[in-house]
Amino acid sequence: MATGQIILTRKLRYAIFLVLTINEGGEEQVRETLEGLSGRLRTVSSRNPDAALAAVAGIGSAAWDRLFAGPRPKLLRPFTELKGDVHTAPATPGDLLLHIKSDEMDMCYEVGQILTNDFGDAVSTVEEIHGFRYFDLRDLTGFVDGTENPTGDEALEAILVDGEDPGFRGGSYVTIQRYVTDFDSWTSLSVGEQEDVFGRSKAENIEMDDDVKPSNAHIALNVIEDADGNELEIVRDNMPYGQISGSGDKGTFFIAYSKDPDITGQMLEKMFLGDPIGNYDRLLDFTTAVTGNEYFAPSVDFLDELPPAPTRPAPPAPATPPRTSPSDGSLGIGSLRRDT
Ligand code: HEM
Repeated sequence: MATGQIILTRKLRYAIFLVLTINEGGEEQVRETLEGLSGRLRTVSSRNPDAALAAVAGIGSAAWDRLFAGPRPKLLRPFTELKGDVHTAPATPGDLLLHIKSDEMDMCYEVGQILTNDFGDAVSTVEEIHGFRYFDLRDLTGFVDGTENPTGDEALEAILVDGEDPGFRGGSYVTIQRYVTDFDSWTSLSVGEQEDVFGRSKAENIEMDDDVKPSNAHIALNVIEDADGNELEIVRDNMPYGQISGSGDKGTFFIAYSKDPDITGQMLEKMFLGDPIGNYDRLLDFTTAVTGNEYFAPSVDFLDELPPAPTRPAPPAPATPPRTSPSDGSLGIGSLRRDT
């Protein structure tokens, strides 16, 4: 059985999310950094084992083919924009994701800093978001976030690829979106109105009964089932983030792991397009998705021993000059070279 990256942890106090693109020609450096990831984690973790440091690396669809020859994870694809009548989930750039988390910010910072040095100029940063735990696992809206996540074996079952794609056992698909919340309009709602948005009570975090829960409540739209009526689950590890002064962004960094990205995809469709169409998630009237990416987080075994790099397509041949007699009297073969 392939060992997965450490995705499932209790809710830790801090997270850093790094979204990167790979610069042209940076592929080899990225491969080396990914191969070195578990060693770097061991080194930094040993300085404070109680801090529960973890760092999950995810690789985007286009980047996958630039980094590895051979088979790809079956369901890896780019995040697709979802355009509802009122709200849009945009697709934005991102080749690599680092989801770093720990109970101590210095540990997150240290490993993030080391990996950033390892990547060097092979990558460009799209965004770096520092998240923090807010009181008793609440989102900045004041609601407890993460309650209905599966736990234990159920969580492993929900997130890890197994026999359906044996070459990628132990890996997991990751969807991220950064949301910016409009707290002026959110705090203008009464607590009762806010509870209707989520479908749970604010202080006690109790789910509303189905006969009073609005059909556009966040949790009414996010419970989905397969054809046999079994609930389809994801594991969310959202974190609040934000600037406190001026007009700086603040809100939720959404991150979900799943063995099938379509499960998260179906939830997003229900949120943004609505179920039925037009009955979209009321939460979206107060918080706006500004980014959206999908990745595959391969197993540790995969990262420790990467498949070979793709053979690079030969650079475009220079336009062949017309065959004319050389004017310098040479045989005209002085520029012969092997393109590798
Ligand atoms: C439930 C917050 C985005 C999927 C919840 C709950 C809160 C919450 C407070 C109720 C407690 C819980 O079970 O965790 C947020 C915020 C978001 C956000 C603040 C963004 C600003 C999303 C997105 C998805 C999602 C984008 C899926 C694509 C779910 C699911 C549940 C849930 C599956 C559990 C439903 C249940 O079984 O009752 N969310 N969420 N959430 N959310 Fe979100």
